[in-house]
Amino acid sequence: MKLQLAIDDLSMEEALKLTDSILEYIDIIEMGSPFLMEYGMEAVRSFKNRYPEKEILADLKIMDAGFFEAELAFRAGADYATVLGVTDLLTIQGCQDAAEQYGRKIYVDMICVPDIPTRMKAIEEIGVFGISVHTGVDQQAAGRSAIDDLKLMLEHRQKAEISVAGGIHSGTIQSYIDAGADVVISGGGICHSENPRLEAAKIAKCIAERTK
Ligand code: 5RP
Ligand code: MG
Repeated sequence: MKLQLAIDDLSMEEALKLTDSILEYIDIIEMGSPFLMEYGMEAVRSFKNRYPEKEILADLKIMDAGFFEAELAFRAGADYATVLGVTDLLTIQGCQDAAEQYGRKIYVDMICVPDIPTRMKAIEEIGVFGISVHTGVDQQAAGRSAIDDLKLMLEHRQKAEISVAGGIHSGTIQSYIDAGADVVISGGGICHSENPRLEAAKIAKCIAERTK
């Protein structure tokens, strides 16, 4: 089980400082969608150069021009790029083609997919590396969590790795670990904690207990 730090609404300076301080606890560094809107692919290049031993995920949430947009992330050094599960399968296929060409990986973000089992089947046929359960920031504000969708997706997965995001922090992580996610994503839970290092350490400890 891996821990993915999502960097969404920090400045570049804050993001580097935070990442330096919790590096030992995280496996994947996500360049979050708003962070990429602010800093573009230069953010991916900077983080890959500074943390070559860590995996970098570009949360592009691609909706069209799959090959072209995924290629932008892979050329900048991303190990993973994301595409939306609600888009055309042709776009997901384009992202997968780019991943295969560059020897990298795609995660399909299932935010707002209405029929998860049927869509998962079609997505798995494309052969993507991973599928993400995602309760978005706006959905979280309306009181929703990702745990039920995670359980549903784990029931229906064939081969894909499953990651989960949606307001996860040290107080809620145990249920996601118990359910059996392959990657747990935490953004605001760590970045906006009063003590991000302590928060990341607590989450990493729960994950280590599970993988003992
Ligand atoms: C929002 C995202 C976030 O990166 C993801 O939800 C993780 O952040 P948080 O833990 O704060 O929910 O992609 O669209
Ligand atoms: Mg994200």
